[in-house]
Amino acid sequence: MSVTSKANNKKPIQNTRPFLKWAGNKYRIIDHVRKALPKGKRLIEPFAGSAAVFLNTDYEQYIINDNNPDLINLYNILKKDGAEFIKKCRYYFSPRYNNEEQYYRLRKKFNDSKDIYKRAILFVYLNRHGYNGLCRYNLKGGYNVPFGRYKSPYFPEKEMLIFHKKSTNAEFVLSSFEDIIQSAKSGDVIYCDPPYVPLSSSANFTSYSTGSFNKDKQQQLADLAHETSNKGIPILISNHNTAFTRKAYNNAKKITKFHVQRFISCNGSKRGKAGELLALFD
Ligand SMILES: C[S@@+](CC[C@H](N)C(=O)[O-])C[C@H]1O[C@@H](n2cnc3c(N)ncnc32)[C@H](O)[C@@H]1O
Repeated sequence: MSVTSKANNKKPIQNTRPFLKWAGNKYRIIDHVRKALPKGKRLIEPFAGSAAVFLNTDYEQYIINDNNPDLINLYNILKKDGAEFIKKCRYYFSPRYNNEEQYYRLRKKFNDSKDIYKRAILFVYLNRHGYNGLCRYNLKGGYNVPFGRYKSPYFPEKEMLIFHKKSTNAEFVLSSFEDIIQSAKSGDVIYCDPPYVPLSSSANFTSYSTGSFNKDKQQQLADLAHETSNKGIPILISNHNTAFTRKAYNNAKKITKFHVQRFISCNGSKRGKAGELLALFD
């Protein structure tokens, strides 16, 4: 559930795992991120995902933003209803619901439902029972991750409770990264964790690729970071260390590079060391 690490050779810090599995989550590199983040009153996360950074930092206030409505809806309900909501999520974590037939039935129920409370409960189930903790939708907006075939999916009760307690100081917002960054004011610190640029200069990373966070979006974020830091608001961006990101972030005051052992392929058996960077615009 949690691991300890040492920050600045002082007393060990207990790191908190997010309750959702999330592609690109920053739990593994949390020590690097924490060290690189400037001090401030309020932390804004425009690309929250599983909110590993929110859970493992100590700002007075937080704005936690993502453009995924299911995610933000779930966070708002967990913030409000805490233990009562967690109990309802637990219901589907039983052997009875851990098979292909039930998974696809519940996935359909999720896709057919407009009830945000039901969707939130099923989102937690799908996240832990679906393939590789992926979160993927088809063009019509239907959740389409296949069954994950896990022996006994873990119910993250403790992690959900920690999230609920921490969320009293957080506002969960459904918006685009541009709008949330532009709403920042003096005293704020911004941490941006956009979808990664590909590690190699792959053919599908073009300005024209649809549905994904393409080259233009990455550059737009880098330009906005530069503008925002000129207004006196520091902003830290995480990404892979590639020729593209080093060029896009050339206005950063400081770039920290490091390597991390992680799954870099959809095929869980292929592990690799990915080069990461943290670009500070200050
Ligand atoms: C790499 S993940 C963030 C991971 C997160 N730091 C964590 O520890 O779990 C990127 C997130 O950006 C969100 N996202 C993608 N495009 C976005 C946009 N245009 N505006 C806001 N959020 C966006 C995705 O839904 C995803 O949750």
